[in-house]
Amino acid sequence: MDWDDLNFAHIPIGVLSQVYESFSHQWDEEQAQETSVHYTPRTLARILVDEAFSGVDNRAEAVVLDPACGAGVFLVLAFRRLVHEHWKKVGNRPDTRAIQRILYRQLRGFEISESALRLSALALYITAIEVNGTQRPPRSLKFPRPLRGEVLFDFGHDNSDGKRGFVLGSLGDQVPAALNGTFDIVVTNPPWTRLRAGRNEVDGPKLVTEINAEFTAISRRALKARRWLGTADEYENPDHNPDFPFLWRATEWVRPGGLIAMALPARIILKQAGKGKEARDTLLRAVTVTGILNGSDLEKTPVWPNMDLPFMLLFARNAVPKPDHTFHFVTPIRENRLSSIGQFRVDYKSAEMVSVQEVIDKPWLLKALAVGTTLDVDVIERLPHNSVREFWRTEHLYSGEGYHLGAGLKQYPADHLVQLRDLEIPENGFGVPDDLEVWGVRHQRRTAHMPRNSKLYQPPLAIVPQAQGENRATPKAFLSLASALAFSQSFYGFSAAGAEQGDVISALIYLLVHSSLFQHFCLMRSSRQGASYRTILKEDIEGFPFQDPRKLPSEVRARILNLAQSLERNEQPWDEIDKLVFEICGLDEHDEVVVRDTVTYCGPYRSVRERAESPITPDISKSFCEYLEAMMQPLFGLTDQRVVVQPVDQDPGWGIPAWQFVTVAMSNRGSTNWRGFLTKITAEANKTGASRVVVRIPQGGGLLIGIINQQRFWTRSRAWLCSLHIEQNHLNAFPVEAK
Ligand SMILES: C[S@@+](CC[C@H](N)C(=O)[O-])C[C@H]1O[C@@H](n2cnc3c(N)ncnc32)[C@H](O)[C@@H]1O
Repeated sequence: MDWDDLNFAHIPIGVLSQVYESFSHQWDEEQAQETSVHYTPRTLARILVDEAFSGVDNRAEAVVLDPACGAGVFLVLAFRRLVHEHWKKVGNRPDTRAIQRILYRQLRGFEISESALRLSALALYITAIEVNGTQRPPRSLKFPRPLRGEVLFDFGHDNSDGKRGFVLGSLGDQVPAALNGTFDIVVTNPPWTRLRAGRNEVDGPKLVTEINAEFTAISRRALKARRWLGTADEYENPDHNPDFPFLWRATEWVRPGGLIAMALPARIILKQAGKGKEARDTLLRAVTVTGILNGSDLEKTPVWPNMDLPFMLLFARNAVPKPDHTFHFVTPIRENRLSSIGQFRVDYKSAEMVSVQEVIDKPWLLKALAVGTTLDVDVIERLPHNSVREFWRTEHLYSGEGYHLGAGLKQYPADHLVQLRDLEIPENGFGVPDDLEVWGVRHQRRTAHMPRNSKLYQPPLAIVPQAQGENRATPKAFLSLASALAFSQSFYGFSAAGAEQGDVISALIYLLVHSSLFQHFCLMRSSRQGASYRTILKEDIEGFPFQDPRKLPSEVRARILNLAQSLERNEQPWDEIDKLVFEICGLDEHDEVVVRDTVTYCGPYRSVRERAESPITPDISKSFCEYLEAMMQPLFGLTDQRVVVQPVDQDPGWGIPAWQFVTVAMSNRGSTNWRGFLTKITAEANKTGASRVVVRIPQGGGLLIGIINQQRFWTRSRAWLCSLHIEQNHLNAFPVEAK
């Protein structure tokens, strides 16, 4: 690299971090992957640093640590911020000595990579010069001592003998205990790449399981030091991930009441069960989380280039929270126009206050709010509690993943499979194809690594593919009422063999999985859907509500069988299926609206996102106005007033308007010409990144509401939320008229 090509007067923050990431991956891809070399984009790093500072009282004196500093993007931002805070506090621009004092006393970075530390040092030197108003004579800018050992620390020597893979680094014993409790802020993007058995174990300095045991020990030690209500001894580090240990270690480095701000994987909030959920619950109980910005909808966009995992930003205060603690949960939605230039909008419905206790009680809550709104949460809460899992258990029925051939792995006899027809997904239609080959012929074998129990394949049987596809054009399940059928591990099977009226039971599973409500349920609750994966888990089907169909009226049972047959014949009776499932689950027509809107506009698929962002049609605007009007009218019934919601015509100017408007007024108000005014409102609204503006019309003229011209904001659910907003905040825009 020729440094002469670079003009350091014009190098923006973050460039050196990018240099570091690209070079690390070019030099040694495997090591860069294993130690998580991914720089944090400047916008996200700045949010973390700014928010962390806003939580500290004596900002000019704050001492800041990044324990995995890479090429120093957080340190540089914190350095600039500290210089700014000193200036504000003292009233004069800090001189060379003051700047150097900040650098040597208030900033600390830990790393395991020598090259990263060199780039960090360079970035800090450049910043020190850049923020200095008196750059002449250059001699005066000389730094008194090297940064290494005083500001920047290399904790990678346990890796210096050429061994590769993950090292404990900042988490290990080399970091002096005397540093504990000395920082006001720990801001970082720690490594989050899960350690994998196999590759790391061959090359790595330690067995992955050994490192994980150390992760657990570090976490327990940090937890023991806290006065919280949980037991540290039961804590286990989830899934060999290094991120949680960094978080727990941060609680030791930060002084009590100090701030922790971290970029982390969004899996932390998406996990529904097991150690992942327990670790999240422990986090919520042991530190005061003040906010989470959930970036899971922004994965694989230029908001964070080259980052393929869903991410989140966590803000927490180093103190045990009060039992009724609540925090901000913010999920920016993905808009291609913005995310393609690395930006995002925080929509008014993307920010919620959630209580710690609720998140612990309802492990799906953050996932549901990440995808939908509080209306979706209400739907989920009102679903019946009996589940497929419970039904299968009490009826002693069989279910499971299909056979695993595992060529090359240990084999077991599969005689029960040899003569069965073997399921393949048909190109068209929703029924089991007639021309399936027999398993033994298709695979030319009599053994499998996991042949499974023969009960799994017995009819009546519903078989659900793990990959559910983007839309209703692809089958979500298959039904075999009369003959046994083999299916591979890409399917989950639910056999009702032996149960009374097993055909109705299987047919109901077949229909449930094809319903919008099931799609909605997976979007809200599946830890798979929406986060990198597009598949469902068996637990998603098992968690779905299930009423014993034998207890339903005979007319409903007949409908179940008829609809299942009709779908198998490819007649696609979607509305009837949805209606039946809503009915069985006891949901009303408003819930139906919420479910349909969310499924139509909030899925993790490109086709869904494109639809969500496309401009509204006159029909969509009409349906929004009608629904809003219908929701608001009951508020005016008592006073005998009638409310009217109408779209506002805009200048037929150039192109598609970025905003569309409606008025909400009493029926006896005359119409107004808004045209000039709309241009002004649009200009103001665009500056703020708002997605909705509400303007009060003087003299009881009601409201003018502007909404971004994207279909996702014009659904009936949004109209409902809008009516709730008006009811809570703007009812006095509609004075009661004297008769
Ligand atoms: C995800 S990167 C973030 C870098 C930097 N914070 C940024 O955003 O540009 C993680 C960094 O942690 C370093 N690292 C990995 N394991 C570490 C460990 N055990 N202790 C300290 N640093 C580590 C890697 O070398 C890498 O630079």
